[in-house]
Parts: sequence; structure tokens; C-alpha cells
Amino acid sequence: MTESKSSRIAVVPGSFDPPTLGHLDVIRRAAGLYDELHVLVVHNPDKAAMLPIAQRMSLLEESIAAEGVEGKVVVGSWSVGLLVDYAQEVGAGVLVKGIRSQVDVAYETPMAVVNRHLAGIETVFLLPEPSHALVSSSLVRQVAGLGGDVSPYVPGAVARFLAKASANDF
Ligand code: PNS
Repeated sequence: MTESKSSRIAVVPGSFDPPTLGHLDVIRRAAGLYDELHVLVVHNPDKAAMLPIAQRMSLLEESIAAEGVEGKVVVGSWSVGLLVDYAQEVGAGVLVKGIRSQVDVAYETPMAVVNRHLAGIETVFLLPEPSHALVSSSLVRQVAGLGGDVSPYVPGAVARFLAKASANDF
């Protein structure tokens, strides 16, 4: 099989509001599979945002540096146009997503099919570590918003930021 350059570049898209340990698990493992990884903070109009996109990006950068894979990872953002436009712009042929449950499969499958039809971009699904399977950003937002401790579910940088933000009355 001949390998095109684009199959070695992947995009990991998501809201990352905030980044969780599940996200970091997917990013770390995807970094082991591809030569170049673009972790892309995408504005999702279906979700009420907790953190500004720039804040999510800097929390991702700090968390990725703590994983030691920052050399091959670029953190970006995308809020206008199709996700596949960004993928094509950076020469990526693959999107990587984490799949925790049948609910995620049902949500992600149509998007994967459409993205392949639109631009020939494939989607690769990674299964999470079982310890991360129940963690979601929406759960973290809810617990953090009510003043609870989210440190078991998020990277250290995110836990410190949310604790400080909560102390300052979020
Ligand atoms: O973390 P999320 O909110 O589940 O991430 C969902 C996201 C942002 C990856 C998804 O909404 C998405 O892919 N948006 C891009 C918009 C797009 O290109 N849509 C058309 C093809 S599906």
C-alpha cells in the first residue's frame, strides 16, 4: 500500500470545554500513531460555552506539554466553515475521535460519513481507557459550576484553573 503524506497527519477536533483526562488520553495515543497532530478547538453552536476558545487552547497546550508530546502537536482553533476545510488546509487525511459509548457512536457516525463524502477525510475512533469512559466535559462543567472538585477528571492545569476561577466566583 502506498501511503500518502496526508495519512500521517491527523486532526483531533472537539469543543474541549474544558479538556478532560479522556481527551488527553486520546491525544497522547493519537500522537503515537501519527507524525503530526492538530488538536483543534472547534466552536460548537449546539453547546453553551463555559470557557473562551483562547482559554481552552492554552489549557490544552499546558496539558499536552505535561504529557511530553508537544513536539508533534499543534493546538489550533476553527469557528468558521467546515472542519474538513481545516483538515485539507493542513494536509491532514484523518480525524481522530474518542468513542465512549453507543451514544457517541450514534453521534459520530453520520459526521464521519459526511466528512468522508465531503472531502475523502477518514475518521478513526479510539476507545478510551475504561477509567475515563464516564468522563465528559459537560459533567465537568456541571460539577465545577456547582463548586465541586473536578480534579479526578481533568488534567492538573485544568483543575488548577477551575479551582482558581471558582474561588474568584467563576
Ligand atoms: O467535543 P464536541 O462538542 O463533541 O465536538 C464536536 C465537533 C466540534 C467535533 C463537531 O461538532 C464538528 O465536527 N463540527 C464541525 C462542523 C462541520 O464541519 N460540520 C459538517 C460535517 S459533520
